[in-house]
Amino acid sequence: MYRSIRIASRKADAVAIVLLDSQKTVPAGYAGLDRELGGAITEALKRPEFAAKLGSVTTLYPAKGAARLFIVGLGDGKQLTQAVRIAASKLVCSTFNSRVESLRFVVTPALEGKSFDNEVIGSAIGEGLVLGNFEFDAFKGTVNAKKKAKDKNKPRVDDLSVEIEAPLRDAADQGRLVSESANMARTLSATPPNVANPKYLVEYAKKMAKEVGLKCNIIDYEAAKKLGMGGLVSVGAGGSEKPAMICLEWKGKSSEFRVRSSELKRKAAGLNSELRNENSELGTPNSELSGPILLVGKAITFDTGGYSIKPMPSMCGMKYDKSGGMTVLAAMHAIAKLKLPGHVVGLVPTAENMIDEDAYRPNDIITFFNGVTCEITNTDAEGRLILADALAYGCKTYKPRAVIDLATLTGAVVIALGNQCAGAFVNDDDLHRRLFDAAERTGERLWHLPLWEEHKDYMKGHHSDLVNSGIREAGSIQGAAFLSYFVARDGDFEKNEKVPWAHLDIAGTADMDRDTPLFPKGPTGFGVRLLVRAVEMWD
Ligand code: BES
Ligand code: MN
Ligand code: ZN
Repeated sequence: MYRSIRIASRKADAVAIVLLDSQKTVPAGYAGLDRELGGAITEALKRPEFAAKLGSVTTLYPAKGAARLFIVGLGDGKQLTQAVRIAASKLVCSTFNSRVESLRFVVTPALEGKSFDNEVIGSAIGEGLVLGNFEFDAFKGTVNAKKKAKDKNKPRVDDLSVEIEAPLRDAADQGRLVSESANMARTLSATPPNVANPKYLVEYAKKMAKEVGLKCNIIDYEAAKKLGMGGLVSVGAGGSEKPAMICLEWKGKSSEFRVRSSELKRKAAGLNSELRNENSELGTPNSELSGPILLVGKAITFDTGGYSIKPMPSMCGMKYDKSGGMTVLAAMHAIAKLKLPGHVVGLVPTAENMIDEDAYRPNDIITFFNGVTCEITNTDAEGRLILADALAYGCKTYKPRAVIDLATLTGAVVIALGNQCAGAFVNDDDLHRRLFDAAERTGERLWHLPLWEEHKDYMKGHHSDLVNSGIREAGSIQGAAFLSYFVARDGDFEKNEKVPWAHLDIAGTADMDRDTPLFPKGPTGFGVRLLVRAVEMWD
């Protein structure tokens, strides 16, 4: 990443505003600013060629006032929050190659007459600014002209401070912080597999956990074998570095809670009454399921397919097969930085799916942590194998109140849904509402897919309990069906009672193969903002 972004008030050397395409005259709220800038906004709007298309940035050099004025288009303003998020990100992109160090960004005058919420718009601005600021250039070498220009001809601008209207500021700062974590996930996901192997991720997690105050425990290869994690052990056996499971834990004290927005203040008030209940004889609310929220993320550092090898066009890009795990790592990072109240555990099983004399093969029968056995019918259906151990171990060890896993699990979900939403399998109405509310808020869209009892038959084995890959149809549902055998309340697989569980198949959304309105080609950090939002709003 290139610059750090601060939400701060200081004298700005550039001003930025937004406009809807339908606004043909200066909105009243911008009148003062327009005067300050010598009527530059009025002049721009008079030009026949001026348009405020979504994400378009017009740069002006007004004679008076600021050294520069950016006008960012909101288009027709439908899906206003996402439009503002996109505008903020495009604004930041257009300041990349300029010497702008401080910016005053004024948004609300353009939204006059629209119904909007300061916190929703504020966090979208903070998110857009930081998401747009992402650049993965760590591996750009000496022949790269862009890097040369940046290093030699221009003084590097390490800092961009953005002043935002007061009512939006706290939410913007929160959006900024969470999106810094999302960018951390993007950097990790994009880091090539010859660097970011399982060992690298383990070391990274340890260091990150120490920095932000998370508990971190590593189940290494030997420990995983002893624990009977046949899925993780088999998938990672052929890797250049052996597999591991990263276990991160956050126990937030409500007294340390960094209250930032009024929404969160309301929640904090609720929490206090909950604490009072705890001390009374009425017992704790939610006592039935009182454990942590369990987050699980697939981190295959490279997926060759193993002996069921992938054909060339589908192998390239498989560095992104660790994205679910990186999302969990980054969400834990944000949760700790925000000091959110509540108990959250993040599990990241990591392995490299390679070909080697130690590698697992088709027809191997393996046994998972919970005693379930599986015949390998396809070594390319490896994600579900490492998730199976993580889910079973997580349910047994932590007795979670809810489980959410994220994985680039199936190519089928990309075919079904494309790259603008993840496939969501949720077995519980309350959890469904929480996740879809959070998704609506952060613009990380989900689409519900079915998982019925009948679907579980897809995965039944012949000489084993299960197979890891069945027939051709409904590939994404098969993945979810497989995982369902490893999720049980309190980790009691005999009783097999339901625990609220969501499986998000992010194979289509984790990285973009072309530029899109919010994300350029490359990693998206899909799910980081969504998870943090969901955890934050839990009660
Ligand atoms: N990592 C892939 C899924 C994937 C495909 C992610 C395309 C991103 C883009 C996963 O491990 C895989 O190979 N899945 C197989 C499952 C099949 C063998 C049952 C697939 O989707 O083909
Ligand atoms: Mn695979
Ligand atoms: Zn995979």
